[in-house]
Amino acid sequence: MQVNSFSAAAQVQIHLAERSYPIVIGTQLLGNALTYQHLPRAATALVVSNTTVAPLYAAQLTQALRARYDKVLLVTLPDGEVYKGWPTLQLIFDALLENGCDRKTVLFALGGGVVGDMAGFAAASYMRGVPFVQVPTTLLAQVDSSVGGKTAINHPLGKNMIGAFYQPLLVVCDLDVLATLPPRELSAGLAEVIKYGPIADMAFLEWIEAKLDALLAKDAAALAHAIQRSCEIKAWVVGQDERESGLRAILNFGHTFGHAIESGLGYGQWLHGEGVGCGMVMAAHLSQRLGLVDKPFVERLTALVRRAGLPVKGPVLSVADNAGRYLELMRIDKKSEAGEIRFVVIDGPGRAAVRAAPDALVREVIDACCA
Ligand code: NAD
Ligand code: GLY
Repeated sequence: MQVNSFSAAAQVQIHLAERSYPIVIGTQLLGNALTYQHLPRAATALVVSNTTVAPLYAAQLTQALRARYDKVLLVTLPDGEVYKGWPTLQLIFDALLENGCDRKTVLFALGGGVVGDMAGFAAASYMRGVPFVQVPTTLLAQVDSSVGGKTAINHPLGKNMIGAFYQPLLVVCDLDVLATLPPRELSAGLAEVIKYGPIADMAFLEWIEAKLDALLAKDAAALAHAIQRSCEIKAWVVGQDERESGLRAILNFGHTFGHAIESGLGYGQWLHGEGVGCGMVMAAHLSQRLGLVDKPFVERLTALVRRAGLPVKGPVLSVADNAGRYLELMRIDKKSEAGEIRFVVIDGPGRAAVRAAPDALVREVIDACCA
């Protein structure tokens, strides 16, 4: 699908044959009917949002969509990672069925990664699949979760364990919505931006180091570049390995430790991006112990994560056996094979690899990295 570049400062294309789509990045996009002019016609659009984002942006979006859809509905979910589960997902299906939505109905995910993952999963499964559009409103969602078609809900025993690969038709990254994003959420998004450097592009890491203050101050030009370069790297990876049979796993750098922190503390205690930030530091330490990177590299990454306002020390998840608890949680990871944990490590700056590691070594890392 193509979108005219009328007010989009940049466009990144996801190349997946008949499932290809554009990511448009710019200002004044969300509330502009032209943004959506190439979407398929349908009687109904359903906007999925939450109690925080809907009051801020749903009116703009629904007004723009009325130019294309006779009926524009809104379902407002409770806000928070703790609600990323079956009961909340059911609210989307309730809205679809109660309003007689057919298989042409287009779903719009208006929110951060939680809304995007749930709306995407609902779109993947309602009537075995209806079209959907991502309108991400957090930095994290604009640089990562809205792109690439991973959709999921959490299970109390593991994060994102139930879901589907399902690509959107369009991703709309409107910089204007970041104006209302709280600083803690901005930092969480920067974790996923930083991630792309050590796994794929050290020049981008250098750029982030140079522009971090501008990013933290929400400088529009800096944010636009960070979003565009992040999406380009993600597009390059997803274009080669849509369903994570290999390469795509590198996008999970920091996530194995991070997911353990998120689920070990209880969803919503640490933000996803905070877990990823700290998880990258822990994974860098593991890479060093495996002889893949040197100490200055670990220190450099740690300093950047800290400057971004993210934690660099992991929480204690068990007083009795902290490392054992991390290991137990990390075994419930989609990359695990036959109970063996597989970590994304840095195999030299700018290059990632997936490796198993001896439990004893991982224990040393956890002991060294937890406060
Ligand atoms: P989130 O969706 O919980 O949003 C963070 C908070 O910011 C929420 O309270 C939200 O209501 C609020 N918010 C959103 N936009 C706002 C705005 N413009 N102004 C003010 N407040 C706003 O969290 P997130 O960090 O966006 O996403 C994290 C989720 O994304 C996790 O569940 C994670 O597993 C998932 N994720 C998925 C992928 C993927 O590939 N599908 C990748 C990374 C993360
Ligand atoms: N966020 C990891 C991925 O999309 O694969």
